[in-house]
Amino acid sequence: MATFTFRRPKSNVVIVFGILFGASLVYLIAHNRYQIQNTLSYATRPLWDKDTAPKDLVTHYYAEGVEMNERTCKLHGWKKREDTVRIKVLDAVLMSSELDLLEIRMNELDSVVDHFLIVESNATFTGLPKETFFANNRDKYAKFAHKIVYHFLPGYPLRSGESPWDVEAKTRNTMTNLLKETMSKFPAGTQSLVFMSDLDEIPAEHTVRLLKTCDFGQSIHLQLRNFMYSFEWYLGYSSWRASAHIWNHNSYYRHSNSTELILSDAGWHCSYCFKTIPEYIMKMKGFSHADRIGGRINLLDPKRIQDTICRGRDIFGMLPEAYSYIEFFSQLNLDPLKTAVGLPRYLIDNADRFKFLLPGGCKRES
Ligand SMILES: *[C@@H]1O[C@H](CO)[C@@H](O)[C@H](O)[C@H]1NC(C)=O
Ligand SMILES: *[C@@H]1O[C@H](CO)[C@@H](O)[C@H](O)[C@H]1NC(C)=O
Repeated sequence: MATFTFRRPKSNVVIVFGILFGASLVYLIAHNRYQIQNTLSYATRPLWDKDTAPKDLVTHYYAEGVEMNERTCKLHGWKKREDTVRIKVLDAVLMSSELDLLEIRMNELDSVVDHFLIVESNATFTGLPKETFFANNRDKYAKFAHKIVYHFLPGYPLRSGESPWDVEAKTRNTMTNLLKETMSKFPAGTQSLVFMSDLDEIPAEHTVRLLKTCDFGQSIHLQLRNFMYSFEWYLGYSSWRASAHIWNHNSYYRHSNSTELILSDAGWHCSYCFKTIPEYIMKMKGFSHADRIGGRINLLDPKRIQDTICRGRDIFGMLPEAYSYIEFFSQLNLDPLKTAVGLPRYLIDNADRFKFLLPGGCKRES
């Protein structure tokens, strides 16, 4: 009897604490549903998602001034193209807001590219209105005007049953047609070497020269050095979607796995490399992966965004998108680079203007 009365209050306390704990847990889960869901899915990604990156990596040989000739082709396991082959180089991008990266890209590739193709819309893939950055800043690129083939694609709010992926597919299809139209004006027998990449995925000039000189086959992906916010934060060689193609009747403008072949260290990919804070906010609002914001409006706080950029942390306040745990942990804690060696030439020649892209330049204009 005595032991019973002694125990009872204790078990009541346990029950009360149990209920309180349970209630707080439910409350916390309900209020952080998106965060928990995302954390779980990104933390377990290496277990459930398969990387579709191409696997057949071609060793890349280059040093400043190396000539692209028979011998260089042979180093890569390729033959030099016959001297009689007539070949045009086309660089095709969908316009985003990154005017500076476009300027760096065009200057990097000017000596090897015959035509720069640009498709631009006045709406995002999610159907929100957006500025036509290229059309409004055309004079910045006057030097390249004779090479630029520009197409404006009128945008509209998403129709019912239409997803951002559908709009993206339509936009890429527009580029396919623009490419065909451009090539139809080439003299008969001309081959077209087409580079397909996002605007922030920049092939190195020497890579384009190599692929123009050597017969690499039908298509090849480009492995790019992957950066975030600027060339200060290096994520590794994890970018692979950019590709080069000798165009044929089956070709279309794509940003997906098209061959197992991939040329290593072929250029640079600079994600979220914007000059101003409002560009970050615009990008976060218009992102196709709307799950990343998940209703958490505090993510759009300018002070938080600035702090995130200077510390090299994930702007969405979540775990890195990685396919292996080695990659995953290395992206959780990045060290800022203290080197700007091996970057696009134009960026270094104009380092004053492009401070925000270089080590130590994390402060953004508001
Ligand atoms: C990539 O595409 C090639 C060519 O279509 C295919 O053979 C390969 O299986 C694909 N790789 C992956 C991982 O999907
Ligand atoms: C885009 O431009 C087209 C044609 O100029 C116009 O009809 C349309 O309203 C614009 N859309 C947006 C979202 O501004």
